[in-house]
Amino acid sequence: LRVEWDLVTAEKAGYDHFMLKEIYEQPKAYRDTMGSRISPDGKQFVLNELNMSADDLRGIQNIHIVACGTAYHAGLVGKNVIEKLVRIPVETDVASEYRYRSPIITPNTLVIVVSQSGETADTLAALREAKNQGARVVAITNVVGSSVAREADDTIVTWAGPEIAVASTKAYTSQLIAFYLLGGYMAQQLGKLNETQTTELIQAMQQLPDQVEALLKQADKVKQFAEAIAKHPSLFFIGRGLDYAVALEGSLKLKEISYIHSEAYAAGELKHGTLALIEDDVPVIALATQEELLEKTISNIKEVAARGAHVLGLCFEGYEEEFGKSVDEILSIPRTLPLLTPALSVIPLQLLAYYASLALGHDVDKPRNLAKSVTVE
Ligand code: G6P
Repeated sequence: LRVEWDLVTAEKAGYDHFMLKEIYEQPKAYRDTMGSRISPDGKQFVLNELNMSADDLRGIQNIHIVACGTAYHAGLVGKNVIEKLVRIPVETDVASEYRYRSPIITPNTLVIVVSQSGETADTLAALREAKNQGARVVAITNVVGSSVAREADDTIVTWAGPEIAVASTKAYTSQLIAFYLLGGYMAQQLGKLNETQTTELIQAMQQLPDQVEALLKQADKVKQFAEAIAKHPSLFFIGRGLDYAVALEGSLKLKEISYIHSEAYAAGELKHGTLALIEDDVPVIALATQEELLEKTISNIKEVAARGAHVLGLCFEGYEEEFGKSVDEILSIPRTLPLLTPALSVIPLQLLAYYASLALGHDVDKPRNLAKSVTVE
C-alpha cells in the first residue's frame, strides 16, 4: 500500500482550499481572540495588553483607525463600535491616504493600526508618521513579533491562527472581535457601560461562535446563489450603517477572487447616481440586519426591484416573512445585538465569493495580481 500525500494537502485538513478551511475556522478564531480577555464570571473586559490607565483613556480626544484592504473594512466597523460604545470621535482611513493628507494628530490622539500580517508597508509608514507626531499607537495584528507589533506602543493580537489564503476571512472577523473587546473595555473603564449593559454585550459576544456554526450550515444555499451570480458581469451590494461596512467587505472579497465587478453602496445613496446601472436581472445583495434602519433599507430595495434587479436579501431570523415580500431570495442570520451583526453577516458573503470563484474555475487561494502581504508602498 502506498499513500500519496503532500504537505499542502495535509495542511488543508480535508478542505479543498485554504480559504474554505479558514472560513470554517472562524468559530475557533472568535473563541481564541476573546479567550481570557473576558473575565471568567462574564462581567468584565480584560485587556492587559493595553498599558493605559483609566486616566490615560480619559485623555483621549479622538481616534484614528488606519489600515489597508480588508483590515480597513474592519476599521470601518471599529469606528462604529467605538463611537457607539465610548462616544469618542473616530476617523477610519486607508493607510496610503492617511500619511499624505496631513492628518491632525495631537498627543491626545490615539491611533489604531490594523494589519493581519503586521508587515504592510503603507500601514507601517502610517504608524511611524503617527508616532513621529506624538500619538500613542495601538496595533491590532495577527502576527506576534511583526513590524507593526514591535513598533506600536500596545498590541492586541488576534488569535486567528495562520491565514494562508490571500483573501482574508478569519483574520477580518477576529479583527472585528478585537474591536468589540477594545470598545467594550474602554467603555467599561470610562463608565460608559453599566454592569447590565456590559454583561449583555459579553453574553452576546460569547454566543457568536455557535451562531457562526449555525450560519455555515446554510453554505449550500449560498453556493446555489453564487453559481447563479457567476454568470453576471457586475453586481451590487447595498446596506446602511454597519451593513454598509460589511457590504464593502463582501464586494471586495468577490472582486478579489472571482474577478466579477461589484460595487458596494450605502443603500440611501443609490438614488444619487448609481441607480442608473440597475437594469433587468442585475443581482443586488441587500443587507438589512440593522433593525432601526430596516424600513429605510426596504424602501431602497424596492427602488432596485422596480428596475428589474434580482435581489438576495440578508435579514435577521424572524423577519423572513415580512422581508421576504421585498426580495427574490433570502438568507437569515441569527439574532444578536445590532452592533455585533457584522461578525455574522459577513460569513455568507465570504462563502458567496468562494463559491463564485470556484464556479468560474479560478485559483481561489492565489488570485491573480494580489499578494498576501504587500511590503512596498
Ligand atoms: C493585501 C492583501 C489584502 C489585505 C491587505 C492588508 O493587499 O491582498 O487581502 O487585506 O494587504 O493586509 P494586512 O496584512 O495589513 O492586513
